[in-house]
Amino acid sequence: MALERTFSIIKPDATRRNLTGAVTKKLEDAGLRVVASRRIQMTEDQAKKFYEVHAERPFYNDLVSFMSSGPVVVQVLEGEDAIAKNREVMGATNPKDAAPGTIRAEYAESIDANSVHGSDSAENAQIEIAQFFTEDQIVG
Ligand code: CDP
Ligand code: MG
Repeated sequence: MALERTFSIIKPDATRRNLTGAVTKKLEDAGLRVVASRRIQMTEDQAKKFYEVHAERPFYNDLVSFMSSGPVVVQVLEGEDAIAKNREVMGATNPKDAAPGTIRAEYAESIDANSVHGSDSAENAQIEIAQFFTEDQIVG
């Protein structure tokens, strides 16, 4: 086990339903610590850049529109095995497949409006954190 940092986004469908606290509680209950957090409205350009890896996927344009459609909360989470732990507490991309008790099982509206983002690897966690936070904004 290793102390890691990962990047999380509470997506517009969750902020719209006032679930910032509820989602954050799930993260904290899983043993993750919020070591940086900011509520922002993503521009389309920011969303495009963030999801660049999915640029060729059929859902890319809708995803970019959705992510810039309302406020999001960008967060850095810290903990033992934070990357895998966060993916576990998030649940599967499609809420229909998400395990009971996970954030997506409880809160997601659909496969696209699925309440949270979480980095899928250490490399991507670093890249994603750096898109939204400077080192001095992260206090562990
Ligand atoms: O977010 P996660 O890593 O679980 O899934 P992804 O495969 O990296 O896809 C990124 C995001 O694209 C998802 O969280 C969904 O919001 C969206 N998506 C979608 O709208 N339709 C799909 N068929 C797959 C993903
Ligand atoms: Mg992903």
